[in-house]
Amino acid sequence: ARPWRGVIEEYRDRLPVVGDAPAVTLGEGGTPLVRSTWLSEATGSDVWLKVEGSNPTGSFKDRGMTAAITVAAAEGAKAVVCASTGNTSASMAAYAVRAGLQPIVLVPQGKIAAGKMAQALMFDSLVVQVRGNFDDCLAMARGMADDYPVALVNSVNPVRLQGQKTGAFEIVDVLGDAPDLHVMPVGNAGNISAYWLGYGEYAADGVATRTPEMWGFQAEGAAPLVVGSPVPDPETVASAIRIGNPASWDLAIAARDESRGRIAAVSDQEILDAQRELARRDGVFVEPASAAGVAGLLKAAAAGEAPSGATISVVVTGNGLKDIDTALSHLGVIPENVIDADVSKAAELAGLA
Ligand code: F0G
Repeated sequence: ARPWRGVIEEYRDRLPVVGDAPAVTLGEGGTPLVRSTWLSEATGSDVWLKVEGSNPTGSFKDRGMTAAITVAAAEGAKAVVCASTGNTSASMAAYAVRAGLQPIVLVPQGKIAAGKMAQALMFDSLVVQVRGNFDDCLAMARGMADDYPVALVNSVNPVRLQGQKTGAFEIVDVLGDAPDLHVMPVGNAGNISAYWLGYGEYAADGVATRTPEMWGFQAEGAAPLVVGSPVPDPETVASAIRIGNPASWDLAIAARDESRGRIAAVSDQEILDAQRELARRDGVFVEPASAAGVAGLLKAAAAGEAPSGATISVVVTGNGLKDIDTALSHLGVIPENVIDADVSKAAELAGLA
């Protein structure tokens, strides 16, 4: 066995867009595909979790960022900019400093999780907090890239989607074919577009015999693709997907329609419950936004709308450690269990004595 080389080297023949420049990589991709006993039982299908929180900066964004920063560096950029709800900025900053580029991040003030802010700061970004939401930040990032010498690496940069499509390749490579159904959270709608690209490419080239139905889930208070029009003041506990006007709107709708899939909404409570259950049943701790797909699949199963006897992949997009404040506050009262150094007391607390 040889070591995993990161998604550009692993899939270079499928990423012509990055050219032959040396890859700016942190060894991203090659993430675990973990069978969920819990969700398999709940649906009567074979359910697999693509654990993207295992990427170097803790989210799927690293797949797109290795590609976008490799290209930006090769084209001679000195600085890169993104708007972000947190994960894109953490990822961009890490890859940018590796390539010697200055990272500039625009985030909605007070609305990104502490872990993500810590990452951006540790990677030496200029962090600009904007009095506004993600959609305002994205408009600013586009404006900066139009008027100043700085490269835009949000997913409106098509190279990002090319990198992110490798997630679909890996699922097919491990399962041996495309799943029947693919489930994921949707915010700015880049990732669902990227997976659809990846599945389509593998099917067109005969690597897979089919493409899956694509199911995307948004948070109820930030569900423009479900409502059918932009949401001016998006609100949800899942800060990563608090987005009212997704940039890849048309691509996401095409993924839904071409695959005969669906994009639906889940409530904040359903998201938090799914996050908690995924942790306690499967040992997989994800951030709230990442649980939206799981919540949506469970909701569909409860309504009798999920397929049984099928193979289902669910992308869990980001690591739970990114946002421990939300996780801990949803746990409620945590017993302190403070004792002296006494084995019998510990055994008593554990119910062993
Ligand atoms: N899950 C997580 C953990 C995310 O950070 C995001 C998006 C999504 C899902 C949705 O993916 O935008 O491609 O539909 N985060 C972006 C950011 C917006 O700035 O980090 P999408």
